[in-house]
Order: sequence, then structure tokens, then C-alpha cells
Amino acid sequence: MIALGVLASGRGSNLQAIIDACEAGRLDARPAVVISDNPRAQALERAARHGVPAVVVERRASKSRDDYERVIVASLREHAVDLVCLAGYRRLVGRVLLDAFPWRVMNIHPALLPSFPGLEAQRQALEYGVKVAGCTVHFVDEGADSGPVILQKPVPVLEGDDVESLSERILEQEHQVYPEAIALYAAGRLKVAGRRVHILGEGKEPWPDVH
Ligand code: GAR
Repeated sequence: MIALGVLASGRGSNLQAIIDACEAGRLDARPAVVISDNPRAQALERAARHGVPAVVVERRASKSRDDYERVIVASLREHAVDLVCLAGYRRLVGRVLLDAFPWRVMNIHPALLPSFPGLEAQRQALEYGVKVAGCTVHFVDEGADSGPVILQKPVPVLEGDDVESLSERILEQEHQVYPEAIALYAAGRLKVAGRRVHILGEGKEPWPDVH
């Protein structure tokens, strides 16, 4: 069973979906620690309610982003974390964290990347006028929502949708797809090859020899 470290800055509904999937045995993983840069994050209360250690690491307590991430990495290591899951974590991840967990940091984003990275993805999608929105789970690199895609779920944009209604329907899919992606990782079924994330055992094609 792998140990998860979840980084969350706010509401924590994706954290909740991950905890629920672990507790229900749908996910062969355990939430080992929740870390937040925001002492008021609802995610911290959710962690506490489920007996998951909750740690606050404020950015302003460190001189540089590297120092800040060193504190986070120390906490992740202290809790023997295998996989880091960003769940509404409102900061760009830097080299210190990525080097400590190479291809072992995932994120969820409420858009079909590479469309609409960054803030307010659902509003961007509505303003652009797309007919299909959705969400993406991807491995994290140094860019904003730019790493290799693991899973995506489409969500149709309905006549009369506003940011709130569309966000709500996307969120339902986020809560399904994030635990699903983590389960694939936990089962050793994800392999990153350049920009592609291959899912081992999917389809009938023989598995290509990549690393
Ligand atoms: C989610 O919709 C997540 O996809 C988004 O923030 C929300 C967090 O909600 N993340 C991003 O936009 C990352 N670029 P939650 O705190 O209830 O999980």
C-alpha cells in the first residue's frame, strides 16, 4: 500500500474524495499527511476528522521558495510519502519538490489541458465558448498545469451553464478521476515516456519498451 502526501490550499473536496476512496478500499493507498500553505484551509479540518496528520507550512516563514519546499519535503519524508497529490494547491511547484519526488507529483486541473491552464479554468472555458469542458489529472513539471497527462474526463457545457453550475459538474468528475489515477499509480500501471503517460495493461497492443 502506498502512502500519499496531499498538498491543499483550500476547500479540500478532492482531498475528501481521495480519503473516501482509501477508506472504502477502492484505492490501495493511505493518506499519510496533508500539508497546507494556508492555516485556514478547510482541507486541514477534513484531514483531522479522518485522523490524518495535518501540517501547515506557510510560505512567508521561509526566505525563498526553495527553503519553503525543503520544509515541505522534510515533512513528506517524515511521513514516508510515496506519491504527492496536489489537490487545489495554489502554488507553482519548484525544483526542490520535483527533484525529491521525480514523476511522483500529480495534480488535478478543472479543464481539458492544454486548454485553459491557470486560474479560473471553468470561467475561461465558458468565455471561450467551448462545448466540451472537463478535467485532467497530470504529472507535475515546473510549468503551470503543463506536465504529462494521465487521465481526462470530458464534461459537456450545457445551455444556461454559468461558472458555478459547470464547476460543480466538473468537480463531480474530478472526484472520480483523481482516485482512479492514483489507483493506476499505486498498481504500478503508469509509465512516463516523454509527454505520454502509458497505462500498462490497457488495450491489446504489446507494451513498448520505454522508460
Ligand atoms: C479543483 O477544482 C481543482 O481542480 C482546482 O482547484 C479546485 C480545488 O477544489 N485546481 C486548479 O485549478 C489547479 N490549477 P478542492 O479544494 O475542493 O479540491
